[in-house]
Amino acid sequence: MKKYLLGIDIGTTGSKAVLIDTNGKVIAHSTNEYPIIVSKPGWSEQNPIDWWNATIKSIRDVIKTSGIEPGCISGIGLTGQMHGLVLLNKHNKVLRPCILWNDQRTIKECKIITQRIGKERLINIAGKPALTSFTATKIFWVKNNEPEIYNKITHILLPKDYVRYCLTGEYGMDVADASGTCFFDVGNRKWSEEIISILNIKKEWLPAVYESIEICGYVNRDTARATGLKLGIPVACGAGDQSAQAIGTGIYAPGTVSVTIGTSGVVFAAIDKYQSDKTGRLHTYCHAIPKMWHLMGVMLSAGGSLRWFRDTFYKQEMVKAKRQKIDVYDLIVGEAEEVSSGSEDLIFLPYLSGERTPYPDPYARGVFFGLSLKHSRCHMARAVIEGITFGLRDCLELLKDFGIEFERVRVSGGGAKSSLWRRIMADVFNLDVVTVNATQGAAFGAAILAGVGAGIYRDAGSACEKIIKETSVTKPGKTIEIYQQYYRQYRKLYPALKEKFKTLSNIRADRR
Ligand code: XUL
Repeated sequence: MKKYLLGIDIGTTGSKAVLIDTNGKVIAHSTNEYPIIVSKPGWSEQNPIDWWNATIKSIRDVIKTSGIEPGCISGIGLTGQMHGLVLLNKHNKVLRPCILWNDQRTIKECKIITQRIGKERLINIAGKPALTSFTATKIFWVKNNEPEIYNKITHILLPKDYVRYCLTGEYGMDVADASGTCFFDVGNRKWSEEIISILNIKKEWLPAVYESIEICGYVNRDTARATGLKLGIPVACGAGDQSAQAIGTGIYAPGTVSVTIGTSGVVFAAIDKYQSDKTGRLHTYCHAIPKMWHLMGVMLSAGGSLRWFRDTFYKQEMVKAKRQKIDVYDLIVGEAEEVSSGSEDLIFLPYLSGERTPYPDPYARGVFFGLSLKHSRCHMARAVIEGITFGLRDCLELLKDFGIEFERVRVSGGGAKSSLWRRIMADVFNLDVVTVNATQGAAFGAAILAGVGAGIYRDAGSACEKIIKETSVTKPGKTIEIYQQYYRQYRKLYPALKEKFKTLSNIRADRR
């Protein structure tokens, strides 16, 4: 009987299910979307029940379109957006909408947590300072602002772990995703007693932690009925989306580096011993592979900046493209291609929802710098792509400063699909930019982790070696020097504007 593996990704825009065979061939995939609730500027929430409903649909879709016998699925792996806070009460009911990774409301809480624990100690234990993205700051915000909800908490979960609960009835979390809470002892791969006691987080609220490849539940009766899956399929613990994405891109050995352009922009390097960045600019997580860790730099609006640009300046084209079943991003990239490197002196800063790396600054905002009468929408499109790429270069520079050596990066995510963007990356980074055959991202990585858990592959490394193959290499070319000059200008802009971003945000705050 042929065997299959199912990966499920609880993303920021939708829930994706990917069914693969054991050679890594994608048999079917389906994504069902859900909304983000933005009830105040800087807030970002989702309803956990929307994730589960979308997941049921995605699973049903892949079973239907693949035509496989559900009994042939040997394992399921979970992945998802990291850091989001899901709170359940004693009846296992969701207490409030999930506060997502890109929500910026916790500026005050970050300061208090840093004061209580100390920045250096926090970085030593948790691998990162207290920043608005991280779960600890969100719990603290609920404590300070919604005490009636805080008092009812009995379980704290991350997004994909809520879906695990629906799928299997079990509470569990993997070490990779737990690393993004900021109360996990990343070096020792366990909850930090010290941080949770200082922050008054009760140990019994927290689920048991597992390595990503461990099985920690089985498809339950309700799920089998709702989805068509077979009762009892093992569910591997899985990983936060960035570690799973890295598995799906073959980043499993020390020194291998990847760049992923999704909503966020991520620079990721696998390391084989725990090390943290004392400056707090790069963040350390457990990898989805036992005894491995990774360093990560995250831009909050990479692909998200281009999506904003599309939604704001290509409204009519989007309607037309939908009718003609074409992708508006192809049109945007085509327009960007008409403009020369450097967008005729137009530079874009991609800090639309604040930033995490290299500038942990919730007040930072997007900027078009150098706008003149000669600039058109085409120039702006190219400047957005170039600005995101400069931001990624900033993150790669931090890895180099940290002592990670590399001459090539594996790129993935929506941005990696465009040959123009790959050429811009190769020249801005001055590195070989490599693509791989696996294009289904984190869900694909989660399916591989499920295969290890189900005993189909010996370990994640050998699975990656078998499945992931390089498909293209873009070498740095003619515009390295031009981009070097524009990058130098780009680097000067944030420091010049830092204080002004804050003043700007105070104007509105003062009027409230
Ligand atoms: C990673 C991060 C984002 C989210 C959403 O630290 O914040 O990549 O996981 O994808």
